[in-house]
Amino acid sequence: METVLAFENVYAGYGRTNVLDGLSFTMEKGRVFGVIGPNGSGKTTMLNALAGLIRPTKGRILFSGKDITRLAPDARCRMGIGRTFQIPRPFGRMTVFENVLTAAVFGAGLPESEGGRAAMRALRITDLMDKAEALSDSLTLLDRKRLEIARALGMSPALLLLDEVAAGLTSLEVQAVMALVKRLKEEGSSIIWIEHVMEAMMGAADQLMCVAEGRCLALGDPEAVLSSRAVKQIYLGVERHA
Ligand SMILES: Nc1ncnc2c1ncn2[C@@H]1O[C@H](COP(=O)(O)OP(=O)(O)OP(=O)(O)O)[C@@H](O)[C@H]1O
Ligand SMILES: [Mg+2]
Repeated sequence: METVLAFENVYAGYGRTNVLDGLSFTMEKGRVFGVIGPNGSGKTTMLNALAGLIRPTKGRILFSGKDITRLAPDARCRMGIGRTFQIPRPFGRMTVFENVLTAAVFGAGLPESEGGRAAMRALRITDLMDKAEALSDSLTLLDRKRLEIARALGMSPALLLLDEVAAGLTSLEVQAVMALVKRLKEEGSSIIWIEHVMEAMMGAADQLMCVAEGRCLALGDPEAVLSSRAVKQIYLGVERHA
């Protein structure tokens, strides 16, 4: 199996405090890599370090074997790392299509014609085609999550980063997002999916990592990780939001 991503002893945070505290793991290409862990354990911070929004103070991040630790965010985008945000950030007064096009043109640096094609493809795969002309403000929560994924897909990423895209959805809607993630995997994407909704992790993740206090507490087969003593202990008495 080919490795698409490796964190090697990464320390990173905000200001002087390190949130990631020697985080190390590798991820195989073409897989759905689920990430769980208590609130504040550093999951979103890991994506921030991966996307280049914060700089590690120590350690290395390798993407497809290349050291990207010091690269700027836009360079990483162009290399094929696309992300969603835990708090969706679409431009409400733009249409769905304009939002995805903007991500493709400004995020991935595609010329407008190519960006248009990438945007259409992203709308098709996320089932948003019939809402392409709708204002983003008018979307339901599920469609806003789909739009967030479509915006990341507009960048045609080789590695897609999803941050709690199933949060707040009904069980049926979670199934819809799982089906979408599986479709993306079948199309060849590698996907990191942070999620508190265990049903989604059990159903869609090929590998599961539990992060605790900025470190990898457990990594492997989802069932084995969830039933491990260390992971059970960390969740005891810890409130999980769905
Ligand atoms: N922009 C920021 N500036 C300063 N501190 C931050 C910032 N973002 C997060 N933190 C702090 O870093 C720690 C880790 O936060 P992070 O968002 O990575 O957690 P998380 O695992 O994604 O949690 P959740 O499951 O609640 O989303 C927390 O203590 C948080 O308060
Ligand atoms: Mg988070």
